[in-house]
Amino acid sequence: MSDSPVDLRRFAPATERNRGPILDVLRALLPDSGNVLEIASGTGEHVVWLAPQLPLFSFQPSDPDPSNRASIAAWTSRSGATNVLPPLALDARDTRWTLPTAPSVLLCINMIHIAPWKATLGLMRNAAAVMSPGTLLYLYGPFKRGGAHTAPSNATFDQSLRATDPCWGVRDLEAVVETASTAGFTLADAIPMPANNFSVAFRRI
Ligand SMILES: C[S@@+](CC[C@H](N)C(=O)[O-])C[C@H]1O[C@@H](n2cnc3c(N)ncnc32)[C@H](O)[C@@H]1O
Repeated sequence: MSDSPVDLRRFAPATERNRGPILDVLRALLPDSGNVLEIASGTGEHVVWLAPQLPLFSFQPSDPDPSNRASIAAWTSRSGATNVLPPLALDARDTRWTLPTAPSVLLCINMIHIAPWKATLGLMRNAAAVMSPGTLLYLYGPFKRGGAHTAPSNATFDQSLRATDPCWGVRDLEAVVETASTAGFTLADAIPMPANNFSVAFRRI
């Protein structure tokens, strides 16, 4: 049961639909064990679900939004997961992340399109600064390919994102790959996922 009389957990319904396919892809990409840093953990539902399924990994969630960090902590407490650390206040745009431990895996699920492009630039710059050669940077979300949306529903979603904030929007995968490459990552795979999303795997060079 909850430690607090107020339930601080947030809920993102899409998590229940995408977490299984994400785990399936991660199992094929992950090393045997390691430290996973999650950027933009949001509600915390992904991390508390993934962690017990990957018990040889330690999970470090993060989010710049204090109410999301409260949700992550509440979900962690309720789940009883023993391999999830308290959330860090990391912003992808930070000049340089300060981390207790260097990550051997970095996850960033559904952030790039719901943040300014500077967040993608910062994510790549910071990830490159803290990750060792060969380590995995995993992105999940919708992307355009060759300048075109991969489905009409993504075009509609893109319009709604831009109406909410002109700095948001579904990004071109090629632009993300170029940014990653400039920072020091090589594209390992771009895997089509349900609901017109992609898993995008990079390796630190
Ligand atoms: C759509 S939510 C996705 C949350 C979670 N990963 C999921 O898939 O349910 C977008 C998240 O990006 C985070 N975010 C937005 N801008 C960010 C930035 N500059 N750096 C890190 N996280 C950011 C928000 O706080 C939010 O948690």
